[in-house]
Amino acid sequence: MVSDPIRRIYVGLQWGDEGKGKLVDEAVDEARARADNRRTLVARFQGGPNAGHTMYIRTGDGLEEFVTHAAPSGLAHNVDVAMGPHFAFDPEQFLDELNEARERFGYNGRVLISGQAGVLLPHHRMIDEWQESKGEGEIGTTKSGMGPFYEDCANRTRRIRFSEYVSDEFPDRLREVFEDSPALDSMIMDTDSLLEQILAEHEHVREELQGFEENLEYRMRDYIRNGDHVIVEGAQGTMLDVDWGDQPNVTSSHLTAGSAFSRLALPLDFDVYGVEKVYPTRVGGGILPTHDEELSRMLQENAGEEGATTGRPRRAGWPDWAAVRRSARLLNDCDGIYLTRVDCVQDVDLKPGLAYEVDGEWTSEMPGDLRKIDSVLYGDTYNWNLWEGRNDLSDPEDVHQALELERAQYVAGGFNSFPRRLQEYVLDHNDYVGVPVVGVSIGPARGETVREGLPD
Ligand code: IMP
Ligand code: MG
Repeated sequence: MVSDPIRRIYVGLQWGDEGKGKLVDEAVDEARARADNRRTLVARFQGGPNAGHTMYIRTGDGLEEFVTHAAPSGLAHNVDVAMGPHFAFDPEQFLDELNEARERFGYNGRVLISGQAGVLLPHHRMIDEWQESKGEGEIGTTKSGMGPFYEDCANRTRRIRFSEYVSDEFPDRLREVFEDSPALDSMIMDTDSLLEQILAEHEHVREELQGFEENLEYRMRDYIRNGDHVIVEGAQGTMLDVDWGDQPNVTSSHLTAGSAFSRLALPLDFDVYGVEKVYPTRVGGGILPTHDEELSRMLQENAGEEGATTGRPRRAGWPDWAAVRRSARLLNDCDGIYLTRVDCVQDVDLKPGLAYEVDGEWTSEMPGDLRKIDSVLYGDTYNWNLWEGRNDLSDPEDVHQALELERAQYVAGGFNSFPRRLQEYVLDHNDYVGVPVVGVSIGPARGETVREGLPD
């Protein structure tokens, strides 16, 4: 029997770093394991190199890490990759990652870049850095140029499209943009030499990217009509969405599932999966309603909780079921949730947040402006141990071999082999959030996700 092609969107339900890269990687692996002669396409629709998607690939000698920022994580496999018009395309970094994938994995998939995608250039990073230093890091951005880039896109005249970038128009377009950039004007710097430097450095990059420009909306539909597998990879997390998050501590793109449909011209029959880390983390500025100092310290030490892009420590908090209900059920209308990193909280009394105190009243509605939250109401505690004795998981490559067997046993045994309290956690989470957990990730490597026996 031939099964339906995979058509899935993966989005983060919290403040990013939920483990989307791993789940997307497994979806690609699943598509390839079907060996059904269909092609597989991994597409990104928003954000840019502010993202860091970390994958651990099992090799003969253990685990190998591969991180993508400027490219879809499909590069880790030999599958096709696409980038839509709301994607912040960083040509230099993209080419570096592409070349790395060619060298390490023999990558030779097809690369499709919408001619409409804006090009992220070095001056965007410089403006981002300058704005952050001026505002004393209020937003705490990743300094990859997102704010200035999306400002240029919204401003309309300053977006340099990928189609212009690879054409002969580029030098003139860049000159025009430089002349009309208020931010560059206010920065005290020699813009002429910066301009010349960008033009010189990008000459070979433009040449190497020549063949990748597409009318992406048509090509997407070709894949879909052919019955190929299409996997959409979100970046960041729902609560950093430029509209739904708590401004100004948000990223500058539209990153919920609805945005994927519009930004990749998808038909509506895709499944939407939300990825939720069992405890939320946040890097940069902004409020984390369930933040806990001791938990953060433990996770920074034992679970390597620092940013893949910036190396900054991440603040962590107790599970926030009320926040997840808002993002999974309302903002993304998810079909299912993947719960990740349940292995990182061994023997911890986890208490899920169920309601917020806003203006002296308890409510399970999360206000968009997080400053309105005065306190959080927590429910029962849950405590589990997936194995004895090994709590420091900060170096995945180091602990991989030690835990490979235990992890494989849980994957084989399914949900029913989990400790009782973890099973109850999932059941209660399903009841509260209203979207079922369809998979539980218990390790960083491809395949270390429990999917069997989960309750409906
Ligand atoms: P920007 O996207 O670099 O402008 O940063 C805006 C906010 O989003 C900052 O708080 C960043 O730390 C956060 N952010 C951006 N990208 C990511 C990500 O991939 N993971 C986690 N946080 C992110
Ligand atoms: Mg990340």
